[in-house]
Amino acid sequence: MDPLDGAVLAAREAGALLLERFYAPRDLRQKGLRGDLVTDADRAAEHAIVARLSALTPQAAILGEEGGTRPGTSDERWVVDPLDGTTNYLHRYPMFCVSIAYERAGELEAAAIYAPVFDELFAARRGEGATLNGRPLHVSTIASVADAMVCTGFHPARYARNGAHFAHLSNHAQAVRRDGSAALNLAYVAAGRFDAFWEFDLHPWDVAAGALIVREAGGRVERIDEGAPFGIDGASILATNARVHDEMRRELAMVSLFAG
Ligand code: IPD
Ligand code: CA
Ligand code: CA
Repeated sequence: MDPLDGAVLAAREAGALLLERFYAPRDLRQKGLRGDLVTDADRAAEHAIVARLSALTPQAAILGEEGGTRPGTSDERWVVDPLDGTTNYLHRYPMFCVSIAYERAGELEAAAIYAPVFDELFAARRGEGATLNGRPLHVSTIASVADAMVCTGFHPARYARNGAHFAHLSNHAQAVRRDGSAALNLAYVAAGRFDAFWEFDLHPWDVAAGALIVREAGGRVERIDEGAPFGIDGASILATNARVHDEMRRELAMVSLFAG
């Protein structure tokens, strides 16, 4: 099976499951730090995704947030966030999604992000562009931070890490949003809804699919620190429409300098 078709199928199935349980009572657990939450829905969605992807590509490894990690026998790997935006889901705030990326030999090849409440499927294949519900997707043409709507995220227990950046950009950009789903935020950069997104301290499953979708929509993706090359293990991300990229990088670097 084509990896993108596999990612789309698994993302839609998991999305349907999340939607079905959206108004049901939650079985909630805290994993580590305050705000690190997992529900029965996260686990059920990952279980469904792992079952589907294992059946489609038994040779591929899987890296899943909720323990669905398994080794493979090839250079292929799926990187899975079964529910990105768990806190939103818990409060029945509709900004959440399923995020699935497919890598071969360490290179991102295909990606699907599905937001079930909106029935929006963002997808990309390397070198072939990005789509939203089958239509071509492009980043915005905004050329300065002053005209930009930018977005960020941060762990509730680590506000200090991003607080100064958040305040600074709130003073300089047209608008700043923080709505709790890094993968969906990246998809929105690809769709031109946000002009830039930055976050520190992320995991591979938060960014793998979104990074490919942003790039394929014409955007630029780097690590925050000095524009280092992006890698899904790099923790930080600055993803933009390309036009505001250098200015965003300068603004963030300026804050890091003063915030230490
Ligand atoms: C979280 C969300 C959130 C981001 C956190 C992530 P989860 O993922 O993407 O927006 O700020 O850093 O951990 O836990 O909901 O899958
Ligand atoms: Ca996540
Ligand atoms: Ca998650």
